[in-house]
Amino acid sequence: MANMAILKSVFLALGLSAILSAAQNNQNYPYLNGTTIHQPRRGVEELTYPRYVELLDGTILVTASHGTFGQPSSQAAAVAAAYFPVFASSDGGASWDWISNITDQVNGWGMGAQPALMELTEPIGEYAEGTILAAGNSWSENGTHIDVYASMDKGSSWEFVSNVAKGNAPNTTNGAHPIWEPYLMLYDHQLICYYSDQRDPLHGQKLAHQVTTDAKSWGPVVNDVAYPTYSDRPGMTIITQLPDTTWILVHEYPGGYTLGLANYPVFYHIAPTPLDFITDPGRPIIANGFQPSSSPYVVWSSCGGPNGTIVVSDADHSGVFINTMLGDETGWRYKVTEARPAYSRALAVWRNQPKKLATISGAMYGDGETNRSRPLSLWVEDLEGLVRQNPPPEGRTPIQIYYSQLDRDGA
Ligand SMILES: *[C@@H]1O[C@H](CO)[C@@H](O)[C@H](O)[C@H]1NC(C)=O
Ligand SMILES: *[C@@H]1O[C@H](CO)[C@@H](O)[C@H](O)[C@H]1NC(C)=O
Ligand SMILES: *[C@@H]1O[C@H](CO)[C@@H](O)[C@H](O)[C@H]1NC(C)=O
Ligand SMILES: *[C@@H]1O[C@H](CO)[C@@H](O)[C@H](O)[C@H]1NC(C)=O
Ligand SMILES: *[C@@H]1O[C@H](CO)[C@@H](O)[C@H](O)[C@H]1NC(C)=O
Ligand SMILES: *[C@@H]1O[C@H](CO)[C@@H](O)[C@H](O)[C@H]1NC(C)=O
Repeated sequence: MANMAILKSVFLALGLSAILSAAQNNQNYPYLNGTTIHQPRRGVEELTYPRYVELLDGTILVTASHGTFGQPSSQAAAVAAAYFPVFASSDGGASWDWISNITDQVNGWGMGAQPALMELTEPIGEYAEGTILAAGNSWSENGTHIDVYASMDKGSSWEFVSNVAKGNAPNTTNGAHPIWEPYLMLYDHQLICYYSDQRDPLHGQKLAHQVTTDAKSWGPVVNDVAYPTYSDRPGMTIITQLPDTTWILVHEYPGGYTLGLANYPVFYHIAPTPLDFITDPGRPIIANGFQPSSSPYVVWSSCGGPNGTIVVSDADHSGVFINTMLGDETGWRYKVTEARPAYSRALAVWRNQPKKLATISGAMYGDGETNRSRPLSLWVEDLEGLVRQNPPPEGRTPIQIYYSQLDRDGA
């Protein structure tokens, strides 16, 4: 820090602020209002479920699930259409290049859906710091495989690393045994892969993780969220660290408590380590009469007060759910944003940019039925402004109904 301050005065004296900002990972990332990262071919294809990583050098990479409309003409056509395109920006998201595709190199099935991206900030096994890892669901009529790929050249090319877990063919009916939705994270010198798991006979679907120290051999399945009612289907893990050294996991929970506002209510769990979420029973997010539904994302920013701000998004709302009380149940507020609602959209707080909230949106659920090809788009908005924003008019049902029901049920 001290060195950076000295450098800063030297650079400013020399009038080299442009060089400085590059050295500080693009200190001045722009505010953006729906910048197009990529426009999929209209009426032919869609990009959905965007994921990103901000590299240590400030480059932002974005990927998504690629889908085509209608029945593929052949098995080969289906495999060719199933990949994760990778887009890169070196100017904080203002402009984008399509730099590569992550393709299936081992199953002959394609990368069907549900990408995850991260950069190694320390070596793991033979993979050096700065290696980018991608996970995704390679699937076909014969199975669901969560596979990991690595890029040693900043996302330009990819090679197979390992298989984390295998399930049966995609099928969301309880009793079928697929796996879904990987999420990668480093913790305590281990790589963790979280995912949704339908293979346990005790749970229609549960959330679980496996860890590895070399990115190759993965440890046993450990439960994160597994509700006692068999038919409950928690899904779509996303995790972030909070400042009081706890961790928050958000997930969708069809079967979970709803005010009638959410078919896939979003729940959250807070735990002292991201390996032990099972110890927390979990709670729904209920804001000022709004309830998030489906495919949540969570980030934390240091701005917005002494606790910073937790921000959660869902698929059904344009706005976001914020909490400046470290996740206290009474602390959730819905705030209006410009960003487009989308299936499994991603939120980001860029490094050293705590006052900016980035949202990446692709397709909405069901766009395939109408052949609608929305762009993959990026918003970067004023997070401090969102925190200060007066709450929007209350939704249909006030928060008190939920808590009075909890009291009545003794939950
Ligand atoms: C963002 O774009 C939308 C759609 O084009 C527009 O309605 C809105 O006014 C813009 N917001 C800002 C802050 O420029
Ligand atoms: C990615 O794959 C698509 C479909 O095969 C192809 O059109 C495109 O050129 C590829 N892009 C890159 C950067 O490899
Ligand atoms: C699934 O397995 C069957 C039997 O081995 C095979 O005929 C078929 O081609 C496989 N399908 C795919 C997509 O690999
Ligand atoms: C999906 O799984 C259910 C439960 O096991 C099964 O009854 C159904 O046949 C499966 N669907 C397909 C298309 O295989
Ligand atoms: C910070 O979080 C704690 C724990 O929820 C809460 O008691 C406190 O009121 C919060 N501070 C502010 C300023 O919101
Ligand atoms: C979508 O496109 C497919 C061809 O890809 C076509 O068969 C189908 O009728 C179209 N559906 C709609 C709702 O336009």
